[in-house]
Amino acid sequence: MDRQNLLDRLSSLEEQARLGGGQARIDKQHERGKLTARERIEGFLDAGTFVELDRFVTHDCTDFGMEKQKVLGDGVVTGYGRVDGRLVYVFGQDFTVFGGSLSAAHARKICKVMDLAMNNGAPIVGLNDSGGARIQEGVASLGGYADIFLRNTLASGVVPQISAILGPCAGGAVYSPAITDFIAMVDGSSYMFVTGPEVLKTVTHEEVSQEQLGGASTHNAKSGVAHFKVVDENAMLALLRELLSFLPQNNMEDAPFHPTDDPSDRVCDKLADLVPTNANKPYDIKEAIREIADEHHFLEVQADYAMNIVIGFVRLAGRSVGVVANQPAVLAGCLDVDSSVKAARFVRFCDAFNIPILTLVDVPGFLPGTAQEYGGIIRHGAKLLYAFAEATVPKVTLITRKAYGGAYDVMSSKHIRADLNFAWPTAEIAVMGPDGAVNIIHRRTLAEASDPAARKDELVAEYREHFANPYEAASRGYIDDVIRPETTRARLVDAFGSLENKRVKNPAKKHGCMPL
Ligand code: HXC
Repeated sequence: MDRQNLLDRLSSLEEQARLGGGQARIDKQHERGKLTARERIEGFLDAGTFVELDRFVTHDCTDFGMEKQKVLGDGVVTGYGRVDGRLVYVFGQDFTVFGGSLSAAHARKICKVMDLAMNNGAPIVGLNDSGGARIQEGVASLGGYADIFLRNTLASGVVPQISAILGPCAGGAVYSPAITDFIAMVDGSSYMFVTGPEVLKTVTHEEVSQEQLGGASTHNAKSGVAHFKVVDENAMLALLRELLSFLPQNNMEDAPFHPTDDPSDRVCDKLADLVPTNANKPYDIKEAIREIADEHHFLEVQADYAMNIVIGFVRLAGRSVGVVANQPAVLAGCLDVDSSVKAARFVRFCDAFNIPILTLVDVPGFLPGTAQEYGGIIRHGAKLLYAFAEATVPKVTLITRKAYGGAYDVMSSKHIRADLNFAWPTAEIAVMGPDGAVNIIHRRTLAEASDPAARKDELVAEYREHFANPYEAASRGYIDDVIRPETTRARLVDAFGSLENKRVKNPAKKHGCMPL
């Protein structure tokens, strides 16, 4: 064969691989408002940086006449490229080839890029769009999934792992994303469930749509499985790039520095009267977060789930910081099962990837009641306590208003190794709120008072004067300083700057036994 024929053969194979399941199926994908796997990867990575691997891989199944149906690439496009110039490994399932279903060969391709990501200390991003296990391959496909799950587990806490859900994701296919650090879903076209609506109808006689059972809203607002909901695929690709900008390449590195023109000592006028003088009035803690952040920018994570706690990323003087904040505007900012688990997982992610943690506290306590007790608030609340306590990254805490009871301890208090703890003058740090405290410690006095209501007002005022302020805690050194709200950004930038070289190690162990 002459040289030209050799090159022609390569070109022809390249073209075949590019077409995947063929033009008709590509058109169908587009009609549904979905991009193809290659279009997604091109849109996600810096232009012209994608290097594809394993284009010529085919499956090795010979059952059901499959030997006559081989498609180059076998339903998944894999390789590496750059995002903002930084290396990232990627796989994108190609729904035009057997519905993006996972064969043994398809799984080997994914495992190969996962291994490369681990060996080279770079994030791995999965663009999932798949009908699940390749039915014709049976157990070989199940084995392929398990090979991926193992790698997800070993990579956890070593390189960031992000899953975009861009179509169906059924059966065991949901468990790889579930082990990854972040799951993002497209509203209206992505679904995740262990068993689909058809099976449900037969087994439990429940009738639900795909959207109700496992759509983006379900997993963002109800189950807490997903972390982000986006309006379309282009928004998804932009989100993935933005999320990566806050993260380091691996657990040995720091997140990238993003220079900013926003002055570190910018006065935060908005914060001066953010906290209402009436302690029972709500306010939106996200206003404080945005006011403090570089360029007022906050990438919120799990915005629609357990909204009584707010988590996400900001930058302070160019450095990534993970924020955990009670939200007084929802359930008065109390801690419950869902908010504890949400925040605990985020704290552990930040700690694993060297991202300092800012904790904003306004918490009246744990939510009381049988629903919470039966739901295991003790076990779940303990997760958050454990996560904050074990975290060795720089930790700065600011109490804006209430810090009552056990929740005071849990929310990154000095006692569980926060490095710097600040309070605004509006802070109230005590075992419980004035009303509850007076009812208990002055029960007899109130019973004997000629005007119980007036006496109670007096006692509440007395209690507030003595305990519902930051100075009792500050006198013991539990609070390092009481700061003026307007100076918050400057003080936090300075605090994190002072902790830049923090080195603290936990005792050597295989791993802790977190109350899961
Ligand atoms: C092989 C599959 C497939 C699969 C879809 N296809 N799923 N081929 N194995 N799992 C093929 C179809 O035959 C079709 O081929 C093409 O992909 C597109 O599928 P359609 O059904 O036409 O598309 P759509 O109407 O959009 O429906 C998509 C779908 C549906 C909802 C994903 O295909 C579906 O329900 N598939 C089966 C889902 C499932 O039960 N998977 C197994 C889960 S169990 P042609 O040639 O016509 O284009 C599992 C266990 C893993 O995953 C456990 C690991 C621990």
